[in-house]
Amino acid sequence: MHIAIGNDHVALEMKKEICAWLKEKGIEITDVGTNSSERFNYPVSGYKVAKLVADKKVDAGVLICGTGVGISLAANKVRGIRACVCSDPYTARLSKQHNNTNIIAFGARVIGIETAKMIIEEWLNAEYEGGRHQARIDMIHEIEETQHLSAAEV
Ligand code: RB5
Repeated sequence: MHIAIGNDHVALEMKKEICAWLKEKGIEITDVGTNSSERFNYPVSGYKVAKLVADKKVDAGVLICGTGVGISLAANKVRGIRACVCSDPYTARLSKQHNNTNIIAFGARVIGIETAKMIIEEWLNAEYEGGRHQARIDMIHEIEETQHLSAAEV
């Protein structure tokens, strides 16, 4: 398992703890930064992780900013990315089972380190269920590719 991880200045300490914990589990990490406490624009790390995931250079991505919102919004602009910001392990698990998320995001100002670990654990252990969920993901991709959704035509 190879995970790309990215963050902004707000989430630096949490990112370091998560990296150490993932390495202990034998997971390979590509850390795109930031590794500075200077102000850092979260779209940069959101984009870098999203590109690595979309180009299949890594298996999955983890993004952390203050709320997880901005960094996940940036990642979701990259074609093929399904990034979910969440604050609880249940949403994390369902986001993989139903939405086949390929990036998980959370906020260092919102949750604590133990919840963050539980979120990652649930997410990594969950499997996409396919079936009825695939048609919905296909619709999301249609919007992404065409800025149109044929199922929404009246
Ligand atoms: C930085 O102040 C903050 O805006 C950022 O960490 C994040 O919460 C944005 O969504």
